[in-house]
Amino acid sequence: MTASNPHAGDGRIPDHLQHHPDRLRWNQRYQANPPTFTAHRLVTEALAAGFPDGPVLELAAGRSGNALELAATGRHVVAVDVSDVALDDLAAQARQRGLSGRIDGVLADVPSYRPRPAGFALVLATFYWDADAFAAGCRAVASGGLVAWQALTDDPAAKPGTGRWRVPHGELSRRLPTGFAVLMEEPSTEGDRRSTVLLARRQMYRRDH
Ligand SMILES: C[S@@+](CC[C@H](N)C(=O)[O-])C[C@H]1O[C@@H](n2cnc3c(N)ncnc32)[C@H](O)[C@@H]1O
Repeated sequence: MTASNPHAGDGRIPDHLQHHPDRLRWNQRYQANPPTFTAHRLVTEALAAGFPDGPVLELAAGRSGNALELAATGRHVVAVDVSDVALDDLAAQARQRGLSGRIDGVLADVPSYRPRPAGFALVLATFYWDADAFAAGCRAVASGGLVAWQALTDDPAAKPGTGRWRVPHGELSRRLPTGFAVLMEEPSTEGDRRSTVLLARRQMYRRDH
C-alpha cells in the first residue's frame, strides 16, 4: 500500500481489520481532530546519530510528521498503522509535499505485523507501546542501524484503561536483544505526556575470516 493509499475510502479494508477495536477507535479520534504533521524530537536525535543507507520503518506512524521529515531527507519510509484515516491524511500530505514516492502506507495491526528481519536502517515508533511490536521492530533493524522508540511511561495520574500503552522507564533498554548498544535512554515530558525515549544501535555484523 502506497502513499497514494489504495485501502482507505474505497471499501478495501481487509476483513480482519474491519471491526478491529484499535482501528475504529483511532479512526474516530483522527476524524475528530485536524492533523498537525509534527515530527518528534526523536527523529532529530536519530538523524544526528546517523544511520546507514536504506529504508526506514515507522510503526504506529499515524499522521506522521516523522515520516514526512525523514522522506524529505531522501529516505524511503514504510509507515504502518491500523488507522486508514491517518494513512489517508498522511498520503494526502505527502502528495502535497511531493513526497508520495517516498512513503508507503501499510494498513496493519502492528502487534502482529512482521517486518523483514534486518531490512531497515531505522526502526521508529513514537507514543506507542507493544512488547511484540518492539521485539519485531528490533529484529527489523539492519546491521549498524538504529531503533528509536518513545512510549508513554507508567503514571499514577494516567486515565484508567491506558495501562496497555505504557511502559516503565528503563524497560525499553532491558528488552533490547543482544547486539544493541544504547545511545540514549531518558525520560521526557511534553505537556501532560510523560514518556521514555530510547535510541540504540545494532552492532555491525562481524565477518569471520
Ligand atoms: C498516540 S498515537 C501516535 C501516533 C504517532 N506515532 C505520533 O507519535 O504522533 C498511536 C498510534 O498507534 C496506532 N495504533 C493503535 N493501535 C494500533 C494497532 N493495533 N496496530 C497499528 N497501529 C495502531 C493509532 O492508529 C495511532 O496512530
